[in-house]
Amino acid sequence: MKGLLTTTILLVSLLGYNDATDAAGEPQKVSLEFFVMSHCPGAVVIDSMLFQERTDFNQDARFCERFFNPIVQQLAPILNVSMHYIGGEKNGQFECMHGPTECMDNRMQLCAREQTEKWWDFVIEQDGGASTATSNDWNTTALRECAISQRGAQLLSESFRYTESKGVKKSCTMFIQGKLFCVHDGTWKKCKTHDEKKIVQYLCSHYTGESKPAACTQPIIVSQ
Ligand SMILES: *[C@@H]1O[C@H](CO)[C@@H](O)[C@H](O)[C@H]1NC(C)=O
Ligand SMILES: *[C@@H]1O[C@H](CO)[C@@H](O)[C@H](O)[C@H]1NC(C)=O
Repeated sequence: MKGLLTTTILLVSLLGYNDATDAAGEPQKVSLEFFVMSHCPGAVVIDSMLFQERTDFNQDARFCERFFNPIVQQLAPILNVSMHYIGGEKNGQFECMHGPTECMDNRMQLCAREQTEKWWDFVIEQDGGASTATSNDWNTTALRECAISQRGAQLLSESFRYTESKGVKKSCTMFIQGKLFCVHDGTWKKCKTHDEKKIVQYLCSHYTGESKPAACTQPIIVSQ
């Protein structure tokens, strides 16, 4: 009897009835979070004091999104990707470093998450990258309507508060499984690794499910 109990406990722990599974018993997806100031179509700034190119914030968001795009595409089945925005709210007014256009872009991106499965492609495309999505994958009019609505405001407000609660101030900051993984702020900072293959391995290693995507063993990195 005691042996059976021990075996049962052992089995249960081996099968992983713990926080690595969700309510339905499915393996939990690996959380990959981006914290950004979304794009504003600025060029690279020449810092006249240092006489060198200074990459500004929006460039970092774009850089991260493009850098991670192949990884996100290949590991999509096991990832829970989310975007969070950096900004503030004062007297009911939103404040974004690059002005109201940036706040509105953020709102559209948050609405896209609710309206289309291809929301990541929408983000890539809006931030100046080439996506594989077609024009049928989202309805720009509906996205705009949502962005200017109460819902859009609520989503942005929640997003700003979430970012603040995590103490994130730099665009672009990335968290994996709720922990700081890397920052790209002009250059790579505080990174566990910024080698694409190692990032893939790291993400895969956090997935507890049995069937991992092929890319986990053979990452195909196509630089954008
Ligand atoms: C995905 O990540 C977001 C943001 O971290 C979180 O709020 C949400 O609960 C996660 N969803 C799932 C299905 O794990
Ligand atoms: C796009 O959204 C607008 C506004 O909600 C709606 O009127 C229109 O019918 C939609 N177009 C398509 C093709 O679904």
